[in-house]
Formats: sequence, structure tokens, C-alpha cells
Amino acid sequence: MSNNEKRLAGEAAIRYVDDGAIVGVGTGSTVAYFIDALADLRDRIQGAVSSSEQSTAQLKKHGIPVLDLNATGPLSLYVDGADECDPYKRLIKGGGAALTREKIIAEASEKFICVIDSSKRVDLLGKFPLPIEVIPMARSLVGREIAKRGGQPVWRDGVVTDNGNWVIDVHGWQIADPAALENDLNQIPGIVAVGLFARRPANIVLIGDQLMD
Ligand code: 5RP
Repeated sequence: MSNNEKRLAGEAAIRYVDDGAIVGVGTGSTVAYFIDALADLRDRIQGAVSSSEQSTAQLKKHGIPVLDLNATGPLSLYVDGADECDPYKRLIKGGGAALTREKIIAEASEKFICVIDSSKRVDLLGKFPLPIEVIPMARSLVGREIAKRGGQPVWRDGVVTDNGNWVIDVHGWQIADPAALENDLNQIPGIVAVGLFARRPANIVLIGDQLMD
């Protein structure tokens, strides 16, 4: 993992921000560099839609208005990090437990720019344990369903998401068909969101300040 590459990626994403935009903002250490850079444009944008309390605090500290997605309508741009990225720009996200709001904003956005360092690039998703946000009462049920599918569920004990839910990290999956797994898991009652971004992958990936092919 390279903090310098994270900084370069976060800062490089600034060039995609148009005047007057409302910018979707993800969560994590890479996006934190983007938010710091966005502060310089604060007077040229309308504001941001935030994916977490953590990012909201940083945006507000910089005086950037934080807007409600219900009031903004569709967004032109979303910038977020990832835990893994495959050659098709499909992602694992949720290491920071913000996956549900991240997924909502990604879905609402025309262009999703993913900012990563080179350690996140993989050929096959799954070495990073797949985060799944669950309604607390469904933790065991979801765990059993994951085990049936060959995964090893590990409860991220002590972590409560911004939505008041829990996170299960699934180890041991080599994810050959991410969209099929995402669709399958989405059918299990009690799962709020799966940290696979395959149905809605990134449009552009920046590894440091370099565009991924
Ligand atoms: C948070 C996320 C982050 O984007 C992901 O964990 C990457 O974080 P970082 O930029 O700190 O490496 O999905 O839920």
C-alpha cells in the first residue's frame, strides 16, 4: 500500500469535477485526499453528497455544503476508493464499513471514478474478505447462507455501521463471476448491501495519477 499513490489518485480525480457540480464522495484514506483537494474548489461547486459520517465531518470541516441525495436527484460524478479492483473495473468495497451508502451514491451517479493505489489491483476478486452489511438479527442466518456457498463468514465484532447495522467479512471466496454472486447474495433476507460492485462497476479507475486501461 502506498500513501503517495493514494494522494496522487485522490488529487488526480479533481480534474473530473465540473463547475457547479454536486459531487458524490466516498469514504476512506484515499478519498480523504480528494476531499482535501476539493476544498480548493469549494466556491465553484454546489456541494457534496457524502457516503459516511466520517466523510461528512471532513467535508464540513472544509466548509463544503453536504447535501441530501433525496434533494439533489441524479449526480454527474462519484469519487470513491476500493479494497480490490479487477481488470473489468469491478470492485470489492466496504473495508471502511460504508458500503451501503457508497453503493447508493454509485447507483445514483452517471460517472464513478475509483481512486486506488496499485496494491488494490487484482486479477480475481476475493483475496480481500468480502464485506456484507446485515440487519443485526439476521447475522447468524446470513452466516449460514454464506457457509452453504463455501465462504467463511467472520463477524466484524464491535463495528456498527452509520445505518445501525453490522458487517460480516467473508473469507475464502475466489470470485469468478462477481455479478452472479452479487445477484445471488442480494436475495438473502437480512442482507442490506454486498460490497461487490459488479452490477455497477467503476467507469474510470485511477491508480495513483495513472488511468487504468
Ligand atoms: C469504505 C471503502 C473504501 O473505499 C475502501 O475501504 C478503501 O479505503 P482506503 O482508500 O482507505 O484504502 O470501501 O467502505
